[in-house]
Amino acid sequence: MSPEPSKKILSDRINRIEVSATMAITAEALKMKAQGIDLADFGAGEPHFATPQHIKDAAITAIEKNFTRYTAVAGVPEVRKAIVDRHAADFGSNYTVEECVFTTGGKLALFNAIQVLVDHGDEVILPVPYWVSFKDIIQYAGGKVVYVQSSENENFRITAKMIEAAITNKTKAIILNTPSNPSGAVVSPEDLEAILRLAHSRGIYVLLDECYVYLTFTGKVVSGGSFTDCKEHIVVLGSLSKTYAMTGWRAGFALGPKTIISAMSKLQSQSTSNTASMVQQASIAALTASQDCVATMRADYITLRDRILEGFKTIPGLTCTVPEGAFYVYPNIKAFLGRGEVKTASDLAAKLLSEAHVVVVPGEAFGTDEHIRLSYAVSADVIDKGVQRIREYLSKL
Ligand SMILES: Cc1ncc(COP(=O)(O)O)c(C=O)c1O
Repeated sequence: MSPEPSKKILSDRINRIEVSATMAITAEALKMKAQGIDLADFGAGEPHFATPQHIKDAAITAIEKNFTRYTAVAGVPEVRKAIVDRHAADFGSNYTVEECVFTTGGKLALFNAIQVLVDHGDEVILPVPYWVSFKDIIQYAGGKVVYVQSSENENFRITAKMIEAAITNKTKAIILNTPSNPSGAVVSPEDLEAILRLAHSRGIYVLLDECYVYLTFTGKVVSGGSFTDCKEHIVVLGSLSKTYAMTGWRAGFALGPKTIISAMSKLQSQSTSNTASMVQQASIAALTASQDCVATMRADYITLRDRILEGFKTIPGLTCTVPEGAFYVYPNIKAFLGRGEVKTASDLAAKLLSEAHVVVVPGEAFGTDEHIRLSYAVSADVIDKGVQRIREYLSKL
């Protein structure tokens, strides 16, 4: 029986969000690749490295030993211990196993944290440019997004002053993603501390998306979790996806106050349940073995970043801030808007795909109109080929 015409099919909740823009571009690029078109693909935000062998081996062993059943919803104690121990060793935090939940990717950690914290009408502060999913996840929960503009002249760096100016008595949470997707900006340790202290003193939660924390290029790496005296109002959201080249495995976590972590586990118990059991074993291997693979990948990303920035210098009109982490560049394309049919960043991304066979993501997806995002987690050859194609296309505009 079809529903009565007056009855709507979909909930208001689902109509408040959009399909992830990066996923839409990836789908279009996949179609073109399937047609045999050679693309220079800077679209998807994922490492081009294979998952290190010792991590794969741990998953294979887990399967062979029949470690294939349901586990505790929040993850086996061993994986949660591996997470809190790694975090303590690297950042001086002091989380317990009960203050940790293992999730099916970092995105689910973020989704569940927002669902358990944000009610209708609550304000959530979100720095711009932002990773695509933050806005939709907040809106799905019924929250109101309060945008905070960063300045391109200041390398898109967010400061405590900017955050303070956006706080109202309805502010429930602040999202900080450092290093940032898409700009690669890193919040300075001083501003991070000031934001955490400010939030703690006002009873506001800081959701720290540290999915790129190990891909910081500025020297000393700081986690919000290091500020143990503010821990009551901090939720650290982590992921193994980028750190260990494990995007497809879906391994993430949250560290935070027990009340929040228990609520997230409760929500998880009614949705995904535990993350795949063999992924938990692979994650233990990733977190407890030598971290040399992480250092090697980080060094490669720095080389690739420098290569793409050098390439951009050969494109008149294109300017770009120097990212301090993650693996994205966010060049300003203002000089090309209004030329030919290219009115917007989305137009430019579409033209680059159809005419130059280069995949980029338009800035509108991240809250700015005059940029495109390129992931440089690709080979040096793809960088050279892609930069050349972009240069040729833009020179003809
Ligand atoms: C800022 C940020 N947070 C979280 C994620 C989610 O990562 P995953 O769900 O693969 O762990 C991503 C992935 O692109 C990201 O860029």
